[in-house]
Amino acid sequence: MTRCSSSRRRSHGQVLWLLLACSWVAAARAQQAPRTDPVEVAALNTILGRWGLRASTAWNISGEPCSGAAVDDTDADNSRDINPGIKCDCSYNASTVCHITTLRVYGLNVDQIPAELQNLTYLNNLNLQQNYLTGPLPSFIGKFTAMQHLAVSILIHYLEHFKGAWESFKSPFTGH
Ligand SMILES: *[C@@H]1O[C@H](CO)[C@@H](O)[C@H](O)[C@H]1NC(C)=O
Ligand SMILES: *[C@@H]1O[C@H](CO)[C@@H](O)[C@H](O)[C@H]1NC(C)=O
Ligand SMILES: *[C@@H]1O[C@H](CO)[C@@H](O)[C@H](O)[C@H]1NC(C)=O
Repeated sequence: MTRCSSSRRRSHGQVLWLLLACSWVAAARAQQAPRTDPVEVAALNTILGRWGLRASTAWNISGEPCSGAAVDDTDADNSRDINPGIKCDCSYNASTVCHITTLRVYGLNVDQIPAELQNLTYLNNLNLQQNYLTGPLPSFIGKFTAMQHLAVSILIHYLEHFKGAWESFKSPFTGH
């Protein structure tokens, strides 16, 4: 097989053929770069919009969200810079598709769960600590199927707030 960078003399026909072959290889390689599931990209952008949040610059939200800090070794759960932040698993469909597995929004005054969250179906780590969820429980919480982990996580975030509200409610009576 001839190499694309070979400098040997060739006829015009050979050169043309080689150009076509090389550009086809380049196109095939470009297609192989894993892409975020488009349903999840749309959901993510809508969720951030509803929360009035912007992604950090370490996270390429305008282009391919599952790139940069979302796919490298960055610890999204503890990095101050990556907030809001996501992590992805790009091993799906023979490593051509990325699914969002972590969404972290730490202490950013998020008060409700948008319905679009149910479209992040591969989410297994929803970190909404230090937010006060006061909006209604999302109706999809009842679908305890593939979204079980997400549903439990949302309930826990609501309960954390409830616990805080309960402690401050009862403290005048118990003297604590
Ligand atoms: C990944 O593969 C599954 C099963 O073949 C398919 O249903 C799904 O649409 C694919 N995902 C993407 C984003 O192409
Ligand atoms: C963001 O993603 C787009 C599309 O994949 C890409 O062209 C661009 O270079 C990326 N920007 C950064 C800063 O990574
Ligand atoms: C989820 O994704 C589907 C398919 O793109 C779309 O029709 C639906 O409106 C989305 N649901 C929400 C709640 O965003």
